[in-house]
Amino acid sequence: MLGRLNHVAIAVRDIAAASKLYRGTLGAEVSEPEALAEHGVTVVFITLPNTKIELLEPLGPDSPIAKFLEKNPDGGIHHICYEVEDILAARDRLLNSGARVLGSGAPKIGAHGKPVLFLHPKDFNGTLIELEQA
Ligand code: CO
Repeated sequence: MLGRLNHVAIAVRDIAAASKLYRGTLGAEVSEPEALAEHGVTVVFITLPNTKIELLEPLGPDSPIAKFLEKNPDGGIHHICYEVEDILAARDRLLNSGARVLGSGAPKIGAHGKPVLFLHPKDFNGTLIELEQA
């Protein structure tokens, strides 16, 4: 069911500082910040030869990453995103095996304009998993 690793997302307090670190110190290709109000984050994409890294900074009072940053004040890996060919088939397979899908269970349109779902970290070794339809 799982396809390629699409991205690893890192929550940060200061996306400008984190972008500078990746662009300068680490010498990576870093996009301009993009505010995604409906997701409560500002996002930057770092393009690597084999995958992407996303930097996420909280946007607005109800940001889904605000609590994570309270617990991890230096920032940290927030989720990993795997590609699937058919997100509804993947969801149904997971639900049938007893895994929990976050939210209503209906895919949302993610940062790349494709349908995404998140899986409960308690069901997956303490890792928040995002599935994105490839
Ligand atoms: Co993501």
